[in-house]
Amino acid sequence: MDSKKKVLTRRDFLVSAGGAAAGVALASTGLGILTPKAGAAGVELPEYPWVEYFTEPLDVEAVRQLGVQYYNEGNGCSEGAFRALITELGEPFNQVPSQVLHFGKGGGVGWATLCGAVNGAAAAVSLVFGRTQATTQIVNELMGWYSQTPLPLSADVRSVAGNPLCHASVSNWVKASGKKASDRGPRCGAITGDTAAQAALYMNQFLAGTFVPAFEMSEETKACMECHVGGFVDDTLGKMDCKGCHEGH
Ligand code: HEC
Ligand code: HEC
Repeated sequence: MDSKKKVLTRRDFLVSAGGAAAGVALASTGLGILTPKAGAAGVELPEYPWVEYFTEPLDVEAVRQLGVQYYNEGNGCSEGAFRALITELGEPFNQVPSQVLHFGKGGGVGWATLCGAVNGAAAAVSLVFGRTQATTQIVNELMGWYSQTPLPLSADVRSVAGNPLCHASVSNWVKASGKKASDRGPRCGAITGDTAAQAALYMNQFLAGTFVPAFEMSEETKACMECHVGGFVDDTLGKMDCKGCHEGH
């Protein structure tokens, strides 16, 4: 059994991932249809973590365009953002089936919780950096950026979500644009691209050693948190602006 789990070296992997060569490699194990097919293309995957395979900066604009394209092809915001990033990341990342993020559309199959674009982009960050501070720091920055930035970046009508929720994001855009939530397609497609691109930018900065977290909670929210999040009341979690949903007291 152990031989089936043989971990490819980076060089083996890059060679076999070529396609035809991968088929030959699998066939030559003599295991036929019982051969585990770990990757989407049947390529045996290297042992995780994979952070060492993230060696080249991502093309941020290519990620943005792919995000829009995959959204328009019906992948949804979450799978679209994830797929844009893993496509540009290349192997082995692109061997993970992007449909693992399908559920994220509409903030979780239409529940409008975490924006799917954030969810999908964050999943790609997590796939690259695994259980490290980099994942936490980059995703934290992405959540903050999404909450505070007028989006979509290049649209005439931009709106600020105030938090990373699909619900707030869509409704604030409806208010700003005068359109209906069901007209959101082009807008959410653009945000899928923008959010994936922003994650790519942070990942590139991390790679180059220039990543500096800039997100700051409002002073107001910090004050609420002092008592409620880890403070003496200690009855909730969160970094979202409390005032979006609660009166002060
Ligand atoms: C000085 C500490 C402190 C600060 C600062 C603070 N709270 Fe509270 N908050 C409390 C306490 C104590 C309670 C009552 C808890 C209980 O009944 O168990 C409470 C209750 C609440 C409740 C429950 C409903 C209610 O009104 O009683 C909400 C919601 C709440 N706070 C939100 C906020 C928000 C939003 C902020 C910032 C704008 C904030 N709090 C700042 C201490 C604080
Ligand atoms: C996106 C909206 C949203 C945001 C942002 C938010 N909350 Fe809440 N909060 C809720 C909802 C919904 C409930 C549940 C209310 C209920 O069931 O009556 C709740 C419940 C609470 C309660 C218990 C309320 C009670 O009546 O005892 C506290 C305390 C609280 N939130 C504090 C905070 C603090 C502090 C922040 C900021 C760090 C915050 N919330 C951010 C939506 C939000």
